[in-house]
Amino acid sequence: MLSFYGRRQSRKTKRSNLIDLKNYKFFFNDVNLLNKKRKLNKLYQNFNLEIGFGKGENLIFQSQIKKNDFFFAIDPFISGGLKLKKEIEIYKISNIYFSNVTFSQFFEIKGDFNFKKIFILFPDPWPKKKHQKRRLINEEFVKNLDQITFKNSEIYIATDDDDYSNQISKSFLKQNFFKLLLKSTDNQSLEDYNIYPTKYLRKAKKENRRINFFIYKK
Ligand SMILES: C[S@@+](CC[C@H](N)C(=O)[O-])C[C@H]1O[C@@H](n2cnc3c(N)ncnc32)[C@H](O)[C@@H]1O
Repeated sequence: MLSFYGRRQSRKTKRSNLIDLKNYKFFFNDVNLLNKKRKLNKLYQNFNLEIGFGKGENLIFQSQIKKNDFFFAIDPFISGGLKLKKEIEIYKISNIYFSNVTFSQFFEIKGDFNFKKIFILFPDPWPKKKHQKRRLINEEFVKNLDQITFKNSEIYIATDDDDYSNQISKSFLKQNFFKLLLKSTDNQSLEDYNIYPTKYLRKAKKENRRINFFIYKK
């Protein structure tokens, strides 16, 4: 199982907010996920997943343009989850469940969930050679994606790290479960495919870094 090396919460996070979050009706954990699934199966046909949702900007956007779809989202950085909770309340959103589990933990508890679309926007790049084993997307990860998708499922990935981009291409090519539908470094493609300009997308653009955008299809 891939360990998590990033930040779990900011220093300012209040304990009372964490307790509220864990009791929040749109927050899932290993115990309540499968119960939630039973209810959702009656209401929704399409389930999507965002891995590493950050502050939830893309997630909120996607959930609003596809109101008949349901969105699961995971990110161990709980301060982002607190921001997302506020947005869900402000916009009265009801088609999202989120959690602070890592992808590996989610993979253990997911049951027989399959996702139509999976978004992974700006996964931590871990640019130093000695840290590259910490990267989320590798061959093992692609094998796991195969287990949570079905024919025609799509995986959307963006990164501004060229070395990570090569690792992503190689991992998908070697595992051969998905075909490459699009590989673009043209920012217009992100807009064309309705990818929200998240904090890390805006930062990459501001710093004039090339954004590698992939769509894989099963
Ligand atoms: C660079 S940020 C990008 C956030 C957001 N997607 C954006 O575009 O602004 C990467 C996010 O991935 C999350 N993350 C890192 N490892 C993860 C894992 N194993 N499973 C799920 N999320 C992870 C981090 O906590 C962080 O919030």
